[in-house]
Formats: sequence, structure tokens, C-alpha cells
Amino acid sequence: MSHWYQPDLAYIHDVGFGDYAHQAAPALLAQLQSHHLSSGLVVDLGCGSGIWAEYLCQADYQVFGVDLSEAMIELARTRIPQAEFRVDSIFTTPIPACQAVTAIGEVLNYLFDSDRNTSRLVPVFQRIFAALTSGGLFIFDIVEPGQVPPETISQSFREGEDWVVLVEKYEDLSSMTLTRRIITFRQDGSFYRKVEEVHKQQLYDSAEIATQLQQIGFQVQVLDHYGPFQLPIARKAVIACKR
Ligand SMILES: C[S@@+](CC[C@H](N)C(=O)[O-])C[C@H]1O[C@@H](n2cnc3c(N)ncnc32)[C@H](O)[C@@H]1O
Repeated sequence: MSHWYQPDLAYIHDVGFGDYAHQAAPALLAQLQSHHLSSGLVVDLGCGSGIWAEYLCQADYQVFGVDLSEAMIELARTRIPQAEFRVDSIFTTPIPACQAVTAIGEVLNYLFDSDRNTSRLVPVFQRIFAALTSGGLFIFDIVEPGQVPPETISQSFREGEDWVVLVEKYEDLSSMTLTRRIITFRQDGSFYRKVEEVHKQQLYDSAEIATQLQQIGFQVQVLDHYGPFQLPIARKAVIACKR
């Protein structure tokens, strides 16, 4: 069992934080259409509970979703039984020939199973480039520094009908990392179960990421929105096209 996005946090992410994927989805579909990619296989890296994958299936794309979290993949399989999902890491999973690759919701930032290194994404970008059809798209969003004022720890919470989540965030600019301590309480009968996870992310400069993609052969656009959906502070969307 993966240490991250265990069953309670996977459930809470699905019911309480799915708005990000729901708001991004119409603009992502429009991007695919505007690049004449109106059918075929889309590989969704870090697919989570399959919210975006469901939009793809409803629009008649085939979907192959990959996520490190067994609990997330279980939710995705329940949501869309006809799609293919695999528990695996984006750093090692084979990427089949496809029309598009997506990684929505900071997927590339997580340091769950790879070492801290600002070039660690380059081999993933190369494998995606090799898998994409000519004219294919790679769309993702990435976290930059700037969510938390320097030298401070931010604390916040969110609650739902049967859960509460408390989040503490800290950015270390010397290592370009963000640490999130996440405490969940989920109702189980008349009790609330407490689980704690610590998520570490590598922060990136989107201009540097764009240069890495261009050197591989992608044509790149960096945006602060997916269509009308304005991304939260310190996030950038990247639309990379294999020309
Ligand atoms: C914030 S969630 C976003 C989920 C989904 N894309 C969405 O928009 O709802 C980030 C997801 O990335 C997954 N993830 C992080 N690092 C990963 C890795 N190395 N390989 C596969 N999945 C990873 C996590 O397990 C988690 O499900």
C-alpha cells in the first residue's frame, strides 16, 4: 500500500477537491479538439480518482490512467469500469503510443518516489515525446514557488459531511521544495479516524520547464489558466505540442 493518498485522503480528494479537475476538463477537451485530436488514446498520468478520465470517456476517447495510489485507482476503476487503469509511477510506467498525455493537478511536482532534482522530469518528457503521435499534445500543470510567504507556515482546513482535513504548508526556497502536512479525520460510525500524510513537492520555474520541453522538440505555451478556469496562485499550465 502506497504511503500517500491512502483511502481516507483519496476519498476526501475525490469528494472535496475534485473541483480542480471538473473546472479544467472543458478547456482540456477544447484544447484536444482545437488540435484535431478528437479521438484515440489519452494517457492520464497521476489520474487520481478518474474525474478527468470520465470526461474523456464521455467524449469517446480511450483512456489509460496511471497513479501511484492504490486507493485512487480503486476509485477510478469504480467510476469508469471501461477505462484501463494501472497502479504505477509516472517515472517508470511504459507510455503507449497515444494522441495526448495529461498530468492534471500538480502531479509532476510530487516527490513520492523520485529524488529531488530539477532535471528529474526530462526523462519523463522524453518518453512522452516518443509515445505521442505527430501533432499530439502533452498538457499538465505545475507548482512554482510563491504559495506561502517565505519563512512562514500556513495552516488551513476544509470540511465536508463526513470528513475534515487540516493542512500545514511550508516552502523551502533553498531546496525549492514545498512540504504539506495533511491530517484527515473521516467519520467511521460514531467515531472519526485520524490519519496523517506528509507530501513533499519539488517546485519548478515554468520558464525552465518550457526550455527543457523545447529542447526535446515540443512547441510550448505556458499559461496561468485552463480556458476560463484561472489556476490558483503559483501554478502554471503547460500546453506542449509534438510538431
Ligand atoms: C493532487 S492529485 C490530482 C489527481 C487528479 N489528476 C485530479 O486532477 O483529480 C495528484 C495525484 O498524483 C499522483 N502521483 C503523484 N506522484 C505520482 C507518481 N510518481 N506516479 C504516479 N502518480 C503520482 C497522486 O497519487 C495523486 O493521485
